[in-house]
Amino acid sequence: MIRAKNIHKFYGTLEVLKGVDITIKAGEVVSIVGESGAGKSTLLQILGTLDNPSDPDKYGTDIALDGNSFLKMKDRELSKFRNKNIGFVFQNHQLLPEFTALENVLLPSRIGGISEKEVLEKAHSLFEDLNIASRLHHKPSQLSGGESQRVAVARALINSPKIIYADEPTGNLDSKNADALHQLFFDLRDKYHQTFVIVTHNSVLAESTDRKLVMKDGQIVL
Ligand SMILES: Nc1ncnc2c1ncn2[C@@H]1O[C@H](COP(=O)(O)OP(=O)(O)OP(=O)(O)O)[C@@H](O)[C@H]1O
Ligand SMILES: [Mg+2]
Repeated sequence: MIRAKNIHKFYGTLEVLKGVDITIKAGEVVSIVGESGAGKSTLLQILGTLDNPSDPDKYGTDIALDGNSFLKMKDRELSKFRNKNIGFVFQNHQLLPEFTALENVLLPSRIGGISEKEVLEKAHSLFEDLNIASRLHHKPSQLSGGESQRVAVARALINSPKIIYADEPTGNLDSKNADALHQLFFDLRDKYHQTFVIVTHNSVLAESTDRKLVMKDGQIVL
């Protein structure tokens, strides 16, 4: 699914990723843990095409999703690629406040250009699966934290991405809502064979994933 080789990232002279190799298989739920500042978010952003590694030519860096290398893609091609293949869930749900839950979930699909009927059906079934079917027309300010995160998960899933990157998705939730969201990830993996990479400080979640990677000082050490 994901094959990445020798990722380096510098901010000025500060090297925050020091040659990271990572492989993720389809249907795997992988967690990434490590101290604050270890480079977890930076790595996720780069794997998710939202940021670029430093000097890929110099280091022979390559990142491929399902065999498609994307580092050399031009902006437009890359946006299309990202929209089609990659979903994101962040610590703060980042829903757009002026749109309803349903509209937020539909936004990426409008960019993706799938038939409207198909997308609406998919959205409704996701709202059912995520237990938020009665919140379709609520604005983010009218949703609880847990509900907002489930809407964000629905938004990440709407285009049936190959992989979902989650950066501390339950960092702002109480433990009950966090557990429920974690369970949801595993259910989605079982139901749709969905692949997840989850950065987390939650040790219970980290231990329950298929594989736990530990980052320290810009490297994967375990
Ligand atoms: N735009 C930037 N400019 C300069 N330094 C940056 C920038 N973004 C991140 N860094 C530095 O890169 C390092 C890694 O940051 P990153 O956000 O990846 O850490 P993290 O492992 O996600 O930490 P946390 O658990 O606190 O979220 C940090 O030391 C940070 O200060
Ligand atoms: Mg981070």
